Amino acid sequence: MLKKLFTTFALSATLALPTMADTDPAVEARQGQFKLIVHNFGLLGGMVQGRMDYDADMAQAAADNLFHLTRHDQSRLWPEGTDSFSIDNTRAKPEIWENLDDFVSKFGALQEAAEALQPVAGEGLDAMRASFGGVAQTCQACHQVYREEAS
Ligand code: HEC
Repeated sequence: MLKKLFTTFALSATLALPTMADTDPAVEARQGQFKLIVHNFGLLGGMVQGRMDYDADMAQAAADNLFHLTRHDQSRLWPEGTDSFSIDNTRAKPEIWENLDDFVSKFGALQEAAEALQPVAGEGLDAMRASFGGVAQTCQACHQVYREEAS
């Protein structure tokens, strides 16, 4: 019993420490949001690029998820001082906070593109592909300006 307790404690200590020390919860939350976004976006991209067969139900579910994920309120995810010059473990450039209106409007473009994709994603590969391209452009447009290259 004691031995089991000790192992559990040791394990949770190793897992928990780096996160607590290094990463702002808001940064983790926004990165988690983008991880979920790309999980759904990537599935649709796989169908568009022919790496997997188009499946209307799966495409619709992914598009529904993208719609909802992009509705998540952003107001607590981007606190000042969480840019890549100020802290580790983020790729959010300081330019975000210098051009907040533009950043917000680029996020708005993603929301609109996800909204346009939702009604057509389950209507066949061609219909989905056209609107998927619109979503992909909004990811790129923001990353080009506001996200550091992966190191
Ligand atoms: C309005 C700007 C904006 C839009 C639009 C946007 N992103 Fe991002 N994305 C960012 C920023 C900034 C980061 C870096 C966040 C951080 O590290 O704190 C990021 C990070 C990511 C990450 C890395 C997450 C991680 O593991 O740390 C992925 C994956 C990603 N975005 C995918 C996407 C996809 C796919 C789309 C389009 C469907 C998209 N993003 C649209 C700004 C945006």
